[in-house]
Amino acid sequence: MGDQDAGSDEGVGLRRQIAKPLHDQKLPGFRFWFQGLLMLCLLGFVVFLAFSDSTVPWIEKFSLQKQYRRFLNQSRKVPVPAYLVHPKHRAFLNKMKEKKTPIPEGVQYNTEPEPLQPQRLQYHEAYSRNYRFVMDNVEVCKVNSPLLVLMVPVAPSNVVARDAIRATWGKDRVVQGETVLTLFMLGLDNRHDVEKLQQENQQHNDLIQSNFLDTYLNLTIKTMVIMDWLATRCPSAAYAMKVDSDMFLNVDNLVIMLKKPGIPHMNYLTGMLMWNRPVVRDKNSKWYVPEEMFPDPQYPTYTLGMGYVFSNDLPAKFVDVSKSIKPFNIEDAYIGMCIKKLGLSPTSPPDPSQFKAYNSRYDRCEFSKIITYILGSSETLKNYWADFKKPGPHC
Ligand SMILES: *[C@@H]1O[C@H](CO)[C@@H](O)[C@H](O)[C@H]1NC(C)=O
Ligand SMILES: *[C@@H]1O[C@H](CO)[C@@H](O)[C@H](O)[C@H]1NC(C)=O
Repeated sequence: MGDQDAGSDEGVGLRRQIAKPLHDQKLPGFRFWFQGLLMLCLLGFVVFLAFSDSTVPWIEKFSLQKQYRRFLNQSRKVPVPAYLVHPKHRAFLNKMKEKKTPIPEGVQYNTEPEPLQPQRLQYHEAYSRNYRFVMDNVEVCKVNSPLLVLMVPVAPSNVVARDAIRATWGKDRVVQGETVLTLFMLGLDNRHDVEKLQQENQQHNDLIQSNFLDTYLNLTIKTMVIMDWLATRCPSAAYAMKVDSDMFLNVDNLVIMLKKPGIPHMNYLTGMLMWNRPVVRDKNSKWYVPEEMFPDPQYPTYTLGMGYVFSNDLPAKFVDVSKSIKPFNIEDAYIGMCIKKLGLSPTSPPDPSQFKAYNSRYDRCEFSKIITYILGSSETLKNYWADFKKPGPHC
């Protein structure tokens, strides 16, 4: 808007410059008429330009200076800012630029420094399409349509947790005769080494990274980005699970559960159900949510964030409905809000005792019956797993 005021000043200057030589010089008749004709042609051209553009307000059509600028605008190729280029195309452009490093099939890298700003927020901060994948494995779901995709949110620097999962419950690609994929979802942080991450991904093809800041308070963004990835990169999967990196997961039992007759293929969300949970208003709590963010005193029924399982039609629906749900930092309760807004609700698992939270001690027999347990450390996971996988009966 201010641009237009500055423009009219320049316009006066421009007209003055054009007028000056006509005053100063005494022109012979022939040249005078020739120049007059030229001016007439120019005027005709400007009038033609003005009236050929129906989007321009009537009064502005007479501003010579504006017409000139419009003409310049149209003829100049405006470079498209990097953040408006679709990630796919950008990755392709990067590939063209960096022929030196061979990029494996189906792996996208974006090695440009990622501008966090300008961020053109659509709807709100937790709407996943505000972010883009800076590291991706677009082909992993196309090889075999998986029965189950395990999506693990993890901090970029937490390679210890990823390696522990790769060595334990994330190791097998085929479980009970079904394809199962394990992938890690990362945000950005200032501590991680981009090159190391790329090497790690080259080796395992299991890292997805999006360009939001990876913080505890941003876990809702991370969950919604997981949903976006499943919806856009992995629509062929039948089920998915969001599972934390400090968990023990009995994937066999999970696949057996999902193949039980009567397990819905659509609109299915299950895990450890949380009913009538009060919103924490204690400012010192990790789960504190201010009333401005979430005014109701209780959350709708949701599945505990340690590990919840859903039919893979839901991610696209979650992303869509999240447009109209204000974000708050409790990701599992946020998914509870999404499912409620969809007019659905979480379903109890066939055997609710299989989704366990904290355990006090390791019990080989017990671990062979459950689906989840919170362990809290990668060291514990590796130790328990080593015992759990020893030959011999579990009970
Ligand atoms: C020229 O293009 C810019 C950017 O597209 C726009 O903001 C500006 O209003 C245009 N100016 C004119 C005179 O059309
Ligand atoms: C969440 O991520 C956004 C986008 O990267 C960032 O601007 C914001 O500061 C982050 N919020 C917190 C609380 O970390």
